[in-house]
Amino acid sequence: MVALLALPSSKVSADSAAGQAKSTPCMTCHGQRGIANMVEAPNLAGQNAIYLELQLRHFRNGTRQHEIMNLMAKPLTDADISDLAEWYQSIKVSVPTD
Ligand code: HEC
Repeated sequence: MVALLALPSSKVSADSAAGQAKSTPCMTCHGQRGIANMVEAPNLAGQNAIYLELQLRHFRNGTRQHEIMNLMAKPLTDADISDLAEWYQSIKVSVPTD
């Protein structure tokens, strides 16, 4: 187990640094670090990657309809989507416990 974990992740592993670099076109609406700066756009910071990936795939294939997001997701590859999802998931957000 330890040996396995020590292996470099060579497979299709999502790369949050790459995702951050790819997120430049997203910043106008979703903010530099995933806190949206327009009211119509959702915050993405801290959202789990599985959910984000699914939404981006749905925008890309039209299952989820939204004029802007369908356009934004169209050129994304599977690797882009994984990297972007990993980047937004990696941003730490904290919520007061009470
Ligand atoms: C021009 C503004 C704009 C840009 C640029 C933009 N988005 Fe969005 N995004 C939106 C809006 C508005 C929504 C809400 C869509 C809806 O109401 O269904 C959204 C929704 C999303 C969602 C769904 C979030 C959820 O909670 O379901 C994801 C994921 C997302 N955007 C990722 C991205 C990524 C990644 C990029 C860059 C490649 C990007 N967006 C670029 C405006 C934008």
